[in-house]
Amino acid sequence: RMDLSINSSSSPAVVGRSNESMKHQDRPVPSQWSHNQTLSLKIRKHVLKFLDAEKDISVLKGTLKPGDIIHYVFDRDSTMNVSQNLYALLPRTSPLKGKHFRTCAIVGNSGILLNSGCGKEIDAHSFVIRCNLAPVQEYTQDVGTKTDLVTMNPSVIQRAFEDLANDTWREKLLQRLHSLNGSILWIPAFMAKGGKERVEWVNELILKHHINIRTAYPSLRLLHAVRGYWLTNKVYIKRPTTGLLMYTLATRFCNRIYLYGFWPFPRDQDQNPVKYHYYDSLKYGYMSQASPHTMPLEFKALKALHQQGALKLTVGQCD
Ligand code: CTP
Repeated sequence: RMDLSINSSSSPAVVGRSNESMKHQDRPVPSQWSHNQTLSLKIRKHVLKFLDAEKDISVLKGTLKPGDIIHYVFDRDSTMNVSQNLYALLPRTSPLKGKHFRTCAIVGNSGILLNSGCGKEIDAHSFVIRCNLAPVQEYTQDVGTKTDLVTMNPSVIQRAFEDLANDTWREKLLQRLHSLNGSILWIPAFMAKGGKERVEWVNELILKHHINIRTAYPSLRLLHAVRGYWLTNKVYIKRPTTGLLMYTLATRFCNRIYLYGFWPFPRDQDQNPVKYHYYDSLKYGYMSQASPHTMPLEFKALKALHQQGALKLTVGQCD
C-alpha cells in the first residue's frame, strides 16, 4: 500500500464511512494555508501509477475509427458505434500534451460560491476548470468567467437544456457553447448508455455551427483508475464525482491547485443554508443511498489534503 499522508494517523478524519460522513463538518476548514510542494509532487507521482491525465483526458483519433463498437463503462452490456461526428471531433493529440500551469482553479458547483466574491481570484489562475456547463454570466462576481476546460455530463442536456425540446433551448445551448470560445469541452461519452443521444445532439450542433471549442472524450479506463487511486488511499468512494475527477487529473499538470465551490452540505460553517448548486434549485439528492456519489466522504479527503497543503479549498469569502 502506498503511504500517502492523507491516510496517516495524524489525520484519521479522512477515512470516514457513510454514517459519519453524513454529519455536517466537525471542524471548520482552517483559513491558514501554505503550499506543500513536496506532498503535491508525491501525489502527482502516485496518481501517475493509476492514470496519466495527458492520455486519459481524451480518446484520440488515431485509436478509433467510425463504426467501432464501444461498451459503455457503467452499462457493459450496452454498446455504441463510433459515429462520423464523434470521430470528427476526437482530438488528434491530447489537449493537455506537455502542459504545465503554475496555478489551477477547479470550480465546483456548490451554492457556497454565492456571495463569495471569488470571481476575480478564480479568473486570476493560469488554468480554470469548471463543471457541467455551469452558467457564469449572471454570477461573475462570485464565480468569474475564465474557462479553460469545462465538463459536460450528458445529463446536463436534459437537466439544464430541456433535452433541446425546441429552438429556444437549442439556442440557449448554442450560446453557451459559443461563449466557451476556444476552451476544452470535456464530454464523458462512453460512461452510460442514457447519454447516447444527448452526446450525438451536442456533437452535431458543434459541427453544424462550427463552434470554436476543443472537444475531449475521457478514456474508458479513467473512472476506474481514479477510483482505484482513491481506494488505495483508503478513501472509499463509490463513483468519483466530476469535481474529484478534475482534481485527480489536475495533479498532473498544475503546480498549485485551488478548489472553489466544493461544499456538499446544506449549511455553511456558520449554519446558514447553502444551495446545492449556485445556479439552480436542484436538491441534495446525493444523500440518498441510491446515489453513485459519496460527496461528503470526498470532501473529507479534500479537506485533509487542504490541511496538509496539497491543495487549497476555499469555502468562505475571497479577500
Ligand atoms: N460539488 C460540491 N458540493 C456541491 C455541489 C457540487 O462539492 N454542493 C462539487 C462536486 O465535486 C461535483 C462538482 O462540484 O462533482 C460539480 O457539481 P455538479 O455539476 O453538481 O456535479 P455532479 O453532481 O458530480 O455531477 P455528476 O453526478 O453528473 O457527476
